[in-house]
This record gives sequence, C-alpha cells and structure tokens, in this order.
Amino acid sequence: MMKKLVILSGAGISAESGIRTFRDMNGLWEEYDVMEVASIQAWYKNPELLLRFYNDRRKQMMTSQPNRGHLLLAELEKNFDVRIITQNVDDLHERAGSSNVLHLHGELKKARSTKDPSLIYLLDDPEMKIGDHCEKGSQLRPHIVWFGEEVPEMDNAIKLTQSADIFCIIGTSLNVYPAAGLINYAPATIPIFLIDPNPPALLHQRIQVIAEKAGAGVALLLEKLKDAFQ
Ligand code: APR
Repeated sequence: MMKKLVILSGAGISAESGIRTFRDMNGLWEEYDVMEVASIQAWYKNPELLLRFYNDRRKQMMTSQPNRGHLLLAELEKNFDVRIITQNVDDLHERAGSSNVLHLHGELKKARSTKDPSLIYLLDDPEMKIGDHCEKGSQLRPHIVWFGEEVPEMDNAIKLTQSADIFCIIGTSLNVYPAAGLINYAPATIPIFLIDPNPPALLHQRIQVIAEKAGAGVALLLEKLKDAFQ
C-alpha cells in the first residue's frame, strides 16, 4: 500500500516557470489592487477589467512550461499515492503529468455560466469578452474563486489532508484562508515539510523547512522520502 503524500502548492511552485507570484517583490498584488481585479464586488462593478486581467494571465500561462518542481512531483507518483491540492489556477501540475490535482481557487482554462454555476466550459479561445454567453444565454465568467466567494472544494481538501501519511507545503505564503488553514487538518503524527526559499515566519516547530526554490526543494524532499519510506 503506497503512502499518501498530500501536497499543498501555491504560486511559488510556478515561479520558475515564469509565472508571477502575488506577494513577492514585483508580485501581482504590487501592480494591481487585488480587490479591483480578483473580487466578486469588482466583477459586478467592472467585469471588462476582470476579463482583461484574466485574459492576460491565461495568455501568460499558455506560454509557460511546467518546471522541475512540477515534474518531480509527477515522478513521485511512482512511489507514493500523490494528491495535489493547489491554490494555483494554472494547469502546470496537470501538464507535468500529475494525475490527482484539486484546484481550490479555480482554473484559468475554464469559464463558467453566471446563471448556472454547474455549467463549466473549457476555453478554446484565451480571450474572454463581454457578450460570450453560456447555453442559457448568460454572460460567461472566469472559473476562478474570487475574494468574497466560497471555496467549494475546501471540504474535499480537508478530507484529503486528514488522510495524509506525509504533508508537504510548497511555494505559498500561507496568507489566504481557508486554504492556509489546511495545515491544521494534517494528522498530528505525520511528518510535515515546507519548501520555500523565503519561508513564512512563525511556523510550528514540527514543520521540516526546506529553504529552497521548488525545483531544488522537491529534489531534496524526494531524497528525504526515499530514506524514510523506501
Ligand atoms: N519556489 C518555491 N517557492 C517560491 C519561489 C520558488 N521559486 N518563489 C517564491 N516562492 C514563495 C514565496 O516565498 C512565497 O512564500 O512562494 C510564496 C508565494 O506566496 P504568494 O505570492 O502569497 O502566493 P500564494 O501563497 O499562492 O497566494 C495564495 O492568494 O491572491 C490569492 O488566490 C490567490 O491563490 C492565491 C492566494
């Protein structure tokens, strides 16, 4: 029976793919006011601005490739039952070959009906615009969880975290809830790793910090796991 390795990833794992993080220097939230481009209030006030913001991020995603961190996580599936919970809206984990990816904050490559949230569409054209309608005639919106909205996948993420044999946090500042609260659901007896070149402060001392970028950090994690679990 393979050990279940549950990963919580954030923007940092996509940094080496050239995708900007949010709260680092030159992060997205230094250039944009998050509440103006990533909140449900902003959508009601100025949907065109949000469509343009996500069009830009979608186009950037399409020119990016998975990096060593993504690829090594996919490779870990040979020896572990790897389940990825990601805050990222890019598809780099999937494109690296990971087969179990749960998106807490939605997915850039999908659009959703504003009338019926169960109507979700894969976007073939990266440009969304006002006037793009669902089959029921209502405006399409990015399939993204904005500030001020519920996180529908949170219960699934909690159950996954509670079932982990190993928990590893990669590339997130743990600033945004409820995602950051997942760490509290990890069983008290299991090892917890955190990979980040600039680890968040005030971490519980049980967390084993690997202060590296994702590519090098996941390679180190792989070594540690081989010693401990093989
Ligand atoms: N490798 C690993 N980690 C990195 C790297 C790297 N190459 N570069 C930066 N990091 C780390 C930073 O040190 C930081 O701790 O990644 C983290 C990025 O933090 P944020 O920019 O806050 O991104 P994230 O935690 O994913 O944000 C959470 O906030 O705006 C919302 O919905 C958005 O999902 C996002 C959420």
